Amino acid sequence: MKTYGEGDAAVHALRGVDVGFEHGAFTAIMGPSGSGKSTLMHCIAGLDTATRGSVRLNGDEITGMGERRLTRLRRDRIGFIFQAFNLLPMLTAEQNILLPLEIAGRRPDWALFDEVVEIVGLRDRLDHRPSELSGGQQQRVAVARAFVSRPEVVFADEPTGNLDSASGTAVLELLRTSVHRLGMTAVMVTHDAKAASYADRAVFLRDGRVEDEIDAPTADSVLAAMMKLEG
Ligand SMILES: Nc1ncnc2c1ncn2[C@@H]1O[C@H](COP(=O)(O)OP(=O)(O)OP(=O)(O)O)[C@@H](O)[C@H]1O
Ligand SMILES: [Mg+2]
Repeated sequence: MKTYGEGDAAVHALRGVDVGFEHGAFTAIMGPSGSGKSTLMHCIAGLDTATRGSVRLNGDEITGMGERRLTRLRRDRIGFIFQAFNLLPMLTAEQNILLPLEIAGRRPDWALFDEVVEIVGLRDRLDHRPSELSGGQQQRVAVARAFVSRPEVVFADEPTGNLDSASGTAVLELLRTSVHRLGMTAVMVTHDAKAASYADRAVFLRDGRVEDEIDAPTADSVLAAMMKLEG
């Protein structure tokens, strides 16, 4: 449960959400604006803390962890992909991809690095800086950065929000391929029915509650579920 503010001003952003994200799967979190998608993602990714309840990552309770432990948990065990790419402009693509490992003082797994670079198709762009890359290529760098540390889960918040539809489709395909080929786990927040159709499962929120779930979603089944939610 997550409540912002107190008393009359309290906003119940999450009210009793009970949801799990399966290993090796790509899950989409959907729902109308204000339904609690970002709040849920922030609570499960250790970016914010739930007011009540429990959040576990592979059995480890993260609710109640202090800021220092949460920072370490995010650094060592979670990958992030944001709408706004968040690359460092003075670093090359390769340096950006490897930066989280460097910060964590970990040696890269070069076989995994090669495989990730191949999946995202950036082999001949590794020496380029973000300003020399298109938006779609920059987001592919961010995808590679998120997976190259083999995190226990990758969180993506509207990863295609700043991309045209062709680049967005490419990024969604890479996300799905990375999860399945590398045996990793990803959770994506999205507004977009087509984006959700790339996931293995879609979870629908409304008013801070899980209202519906679809396995193997298609754009049509997601749209139908959204209409039902909003209707
Ligand atoms: N920091 C905050 N303080 C107070 N209320 C907040 C805060 N952040 C979010 N809320 C409220 O909590 C509810 C859920 O917000 P949240 O951002 O999780 O929705 P969302 O599903 O991500 O929406 P969108 O699709 O528009 O991004 C909303 O009513 C919102 O106004
Ligand atoms: Mg949001």
